[in-house]
Amino acid sequence: MNWKTKAHILAILSRLPGGRSLYHKLQSALGTNRLNVDEGVARAMELVELIYEGGRQLRGSAVVEVGTGWRPFVPFIFHLLGADSIRTLDINPWLNRDYAFETFHALEDQLEAIAARAGVDESFVRERYIRATPSDTSLESLLRGFHVNYVYPGDARATGLKSGSIDFVVSSNVLEHVQPEILSVIHIESRRILGADGLAVHRFNPEDHYVGVDRSITGANFLQFSEREWKWYGGTGLAYHNRLRCCEHRELFERAGFDMRVDRRRMDGKGLAAIKNGSLQVHADFARFSPEDLATDYMWTVAMPRDTSALDAVGAATLKLA
Ligand SMILES: C[S@@+](CC[C@H](N)C(=O)[O-])C[C@H]1O[C@@H](n2cnc3c(N)ncnc32)[C@H](O)[C@@H]1O
Repeated sequence: MNWKTKAHILAILSRLPGGRSLYHKLQSALGTNRLNVDEGVARAMELVELIYEGGRQLRGSAVVEVGTGWRPFVPFIFHLLGADSIRTLDINPWLNRDYAFETFHALEDQLEAIAARAGVDESFVRERYIRATPSDTSLESLLRGFHVNYVYPGDARATGLKSGSIDFVVSSNVLEHVQPEILSVIHIESRRILGADGLAVHRFNPEDHYVGVDRSITGANFLQFSEREWKWYGGTGLAYHNRLRCCEHRELFERAGFDMRVDRRRMDGKGLAAIKNGSLQVHADFARFSPEDLATDYMWTVAMPRDTSALDAVGAATLKLA
């Protein structure tokens, strides 16, 4: 499909009253939101591995997930691997009973692989799965069994949680869909609720998502548009993408009081070539970025709260002297 066809449909749906639920119905009817177990498990496992890379373990942890989405792979897998509690927040009501049970049943065949990939005893994972099995068919029972507190509407800018009470704030494929002003508040809130040893762990996709429907474009395609032009295609509504480049994401973390432990990026070779050979004319708004930053199509980050205690002590001493 030509990407503009999909973009126009989404732009119109975004502006129609009831367009959001119509979009959801269309997704179900066309099967574009079909269960993809391998992808769901792989994405959740990447977050687990990032936590390991940050030098931490899941056992006994308190976790907040930003952006639940449709299927609770992340919270369920985190529970299976030993997390104590997972609060998952979303501003949209995408999660439902059918999606949650579909995820639960799909995980049964994945327990061995999940345990092996996480380096955890299979019997531990299997026992947690059996213990989580709900006694009835309600969404509430299923979530309770997995120690998941699903909050809808739940805005990650204001979690209502106690300062320093959380071990990990995580998200998968969310940060690219959040407006920069909101994103900086989410990071500040994450910094507040994370303990001193906590981690903010995110994986996301800074490329043009229309590349998934149109093979003739590259992941850098949307960088040719001014902000005004992009507003129609994906600068608002259902297909919103903030087009932030990785160095800007990093700046947002750092400004919120985080130090980066992991900053891993993947490049889209086709996009890089198109930028370098001039077949893709990047808009002047993006002129300050390197071709590599423009063509990055994935980013994995682990950020840890910056230790400000030394600075605070210096500040207090300075105040006393003055
Ligand atoms: C592309 S979906 C990804 C969902 C899920 N993590 C996944 O990988 O399937 C992005 C999700 O982030 C949610 N979201 C956006 N802004 C948010 C915010 N401020 N607080 C919580 N969730 C938010 C959206 O409603 C949406 O469900």
